[in-house]
Amino acid sequence: MKNNSTEVIPFYAAENPRLFEIERRCMDRDGIVLQFLESTLPNGSVLDIGAGNGFVADYVQNNERPIVALEPEPKMIDTRKPLLWTRGVAQRLPFIDNAFTAAYATWAFFLSGIDCKLEGLKEVRRVVTSSGVIVIIENAGDDEFCSLSKDSISDDGKWYTSHGFERTILETSFRFDTLDEARELLSFYFGEEVGSTIKANEIEYKVAAYVGLAGEIE
Ligand SMILES: C[S@@+](CC[C@H](N)C(=O)[O-])C[C@H]1O[C@@H](n2cnc3c(N)ncnc32)[C@H](O)[C@@H]1O
Repeated sequence: MKNNSTEVIPFYAAENPRLFEIERRCMDRDGIVLQFLESTLPNGSVLDIGAGNGFVADYVQNNERPIVALEPEPKMIDTRKPLLWTRGVAQRLPFIDNAFTAAYATWAFFLSGIDCKLEGLKEVRRVVTSSGVIVIIENAGDDEFCSLSKDSISDDGKWYTSHGFERTILETSFRFDTLDEARELLSFYFGEEVGSTIKANEIEYKVAAYVGLAGEIE
């Protein structure tokens, strides 16, 4: 992979897999987002953009739906998961035109600015067949989880809908095993002054799923 560090958005989990294990275990514990993806994605070859450690890809993959897991950060790639791992960035997908019947990105686009999103959208439309589905999963905002942050950590839904995506809100939660675990992760995200005030193991969390057909989004 060409090394262009400005294209790779740093993600804490590469250096802190223990906290990421808590995040991945406790976020959407009832699998509402996973089940939405599972039922929305068609069979055929599907691309996961910014696959992280392959948690989502491992869930939605089956014999009829092999997942190509694209991830730029080598420390994130978990080769114990039987996925078709590829290194690369959303802005320059290392695939031929129309290579996939669908593609998705879970919490991998909101970290970036508009320019990066536009590049990513152009690329994902190029590699997915025109009748193929594209799904982007992001924080929806307007919930207990996002209200813990003093900065906005939800995406601009209007940006996606103006590009032709349909927005569906999925109501889920972070559900921790213990209060200590909740406080540890939420202190890491939002600061000790916020994390230490948490009094419940479960935090309301709303997720936006943006779904469009490659040939219909702009
Ligand atoms: C918030 S994590 C989400 C990981 C995974 N999708 C999940 O739901 O668990 C964002 C991931 O995007 C990766 N990433 C960073 N910059 C990227 C880029 N330019 N293109 C694609 N992925 C990128 C990070 O390395 C990280 O693994």
